[in-house]
Amino acid sequence: MPPSANENVLVGFGTADDAGVYKLRDDLAIVQTVDFFTPIVDDPFDYGRIAAANALSDVYAMGGIPVSALNIAAFPIDALDLDVLERILAGGAAIAKEAGVAIIGGHTIKDAEPKYGMAVTGTIDPRRIVTNANARPGDLLMLTKPVGTGILATALKRGAISDSEMQEAVAWMVSLNDRASKSMLAAGAHAATDITGYGVLGHAGEIAAASRVSLRIDSTKVPLLSRVLELIDEDVVPGGTRDNAAAHAAFTKFESSVSPALRLALSDAQTSGGLLISLPPEQLTKFRESLGERSQTLCAVIGEVGDGEGITVS
Ligand code: CO
Ligand code: CO
Repeated sequence: MPPSANENVLVGFGTADDAGVYKLRDDLAIVQTVDFFTPIVDDPFDYGRIAAANALSDVYAMGGIPVSALNIAAFPIDALDLDVLERILAGGAAIAKEAGVAIIGGHTIKDAEPKYGMAVTGTIDPRRIVTNANARPGDLLMLTKPVGTGILATALKRGAISDSEMQEAVAWMVSLNDRASKSMLAAGAHAATDITGYGVLGHAGEIAAASRVSLRIDSTKVPLLSRVLELIDEDVVPGGTRDNAAAHAAFTKFESSVSPALRLALSDAQTSGGLLISLPPEQLTKFRESLGERSQTLCAVIGEVGDGEGITVS
């Protein structure tokens, strides 16, 4: 895509950021993003919730406040009962309500496989946009959700885990990044992104490249969902995660102590993952305090930012 020449485009195609930002006034901009995908769990209501939380996440990752959304859906009306679509949309509506977001329209087409997601608009102060380009040497790297949803979704599809074993992952995928976003603004985070299809290493690599810094990640500090390493050892790994790992090898050095399963987990394609935040160390307490009691947000310090380039995993 050619970059937009419009001077009001504060964040556009030129960078690997989560959402676009368009300035309306000196103190007000809109942040816009769209995301949709095929079902990753069997329950239509959960699928709708996951897709909505995932779509909202890119606004939160930039420090914006989502305000309105449009549904995007595709549905095989000849093969599936219309109730299923209703449940998907009800799941999306439940998450929008929790986020304080108004769904003000949408569009559905007939298609062989269901697809659902949202186009989301948020507001943001143009002077306080958190992109991935401003991480600084000395910062701590923080992650706010555990990793492994791609492995678990594949395990569910292959019958390697039960629906009840998937519930931990579902609970994390439907949880909003709203609190993490507010806390990173309160604590003056330098950079952030959300962990989605490119996995921890892929999105961390975007921060490293955009900020022209190196990252050191302590793999033993990265929170994982239950059974992830064991499932990887049983070869339950989605193709996208293997493709990620191959691409991440170009900028990642692993110390020999890091197991093959853990290396793959760090490349696992996530759905509705947590925020990866680059934060000055003296602000960690403020971030933690600002998170407050809400248990569904982790504050896992998984590494630090240094000079140079690339990622080292110990
Ligand atoms: Co994103
Ligand atoms: Co996205």
